[in-house]
Amino acid sequence: MELIVTVHQMQQYAEQQRCAGRRIAVVPTMGYFHEGHLSLIRRARQLADTVITTLFVNPTQFAPGEDYQRYPRDLERDSQLAERSGCDVLFAPSLDEVYPQGYATTITVHGITEKFEGAFRPGHFQGVATIVAKLFLATKPHVAVFGQKDWQQTLVVRQLVRDLNFAIEIVVAPTVREPDGLAMSSRNVYLSPGERQKATVLYRALQRAHCLVKQGERRRLVLVHAMEAELRQVPELSIDYAAAAEAMTLEEPEEFTAGQTVVLLVAARIGATRLIDNDLVQVPSSEDACA
Ligand code: PAJ
Repeated sequence: MELIVTVHQMQQYAEQQRCAGRRIAVVPTMGYFHEGHLSLIRRARQLADTVITTLFVNPTQFAPGEDYQRYPRDLERDSQLAERSGCDVLFAPSLDEVYPQGYATTITVHGITEKFEGAFRPGHFQGVATIVAKLFLATKPHVAVFGQKDWQQTLVVRQLVRDLNFAIEIVVAPTVREPDGLAMSSRNVYLSPGERQKATVLYRALQRAHCLVKQGERRRLVLVHAMEAELRQVPELSIDYAAAAEAMTLEEPEEFTAGQTVVLLVAARIGATRLIDNDLVQVPSSEDACA
């Protein structure tokens, strides 16, 4: 596996691959790899001839007071894990390389960025949209792989790609979980053993609402209240939001309709750690709802 640290070298490499008729897949990340990241790299390996993983802890997507400084970093370990998962190039630019002195451009995606994560993390999606666009321009991919774990982020990236005419296919891969259901996250290392155990309530809240939908429940607030009731079982947890929305638009109707795909979303803080999770569920027709 090759390590590339400058945008110019990355673009040259990508151009060579394209000229040789090779299909490029990119997996954007902030590093400190876990099985979730590695599953995306393996998926990319199946989709393309050349797999580029980007590793950059992007300061502009962290709001003031968030965990940018203490975000876990381990380039040596990440290089080994990426290589073993089938990555050809690790693109790990420095802060100065990405945002040199005098840098002055940001990208704002309106609408879907304004609720849920966007409401609780001011500036977050502007940082994400800007860095993702820059990473696309550096790596020139045909396809990019993102995780369902950050569902709203996948919608923001899809909107960005549509609006700015990036000729890039977006693939969304399923969330990889620990055996007890906790979604894998680089931030899980912040959890104390006690918090780690309590964190599984996010998954239970999603499961509870998922079952209700499968049983025929279509009223949005009933789903939201069921998730909140489950989350409240852990008093140490501070809920940012529990929501149910139409999966692709994030619209929140009073009632969902048969055939719609609903995304169930939860975000909560436990101690100093903020966790998010989500689940997709299709609304059954009345005949198909299970008892
Ligand atoms: P990061 O949090 O490192 O995540 C990189 C990619 O891994 C994202 O697409 C994310 O959704 C995915 N991912 C994280 N946990 C996962 C899990 N348990 N299962 C499957 N996929 C998972 O998301 C970012 O970085 C940044 O915002 C980035 C897009 C790189 C822009 O800076």
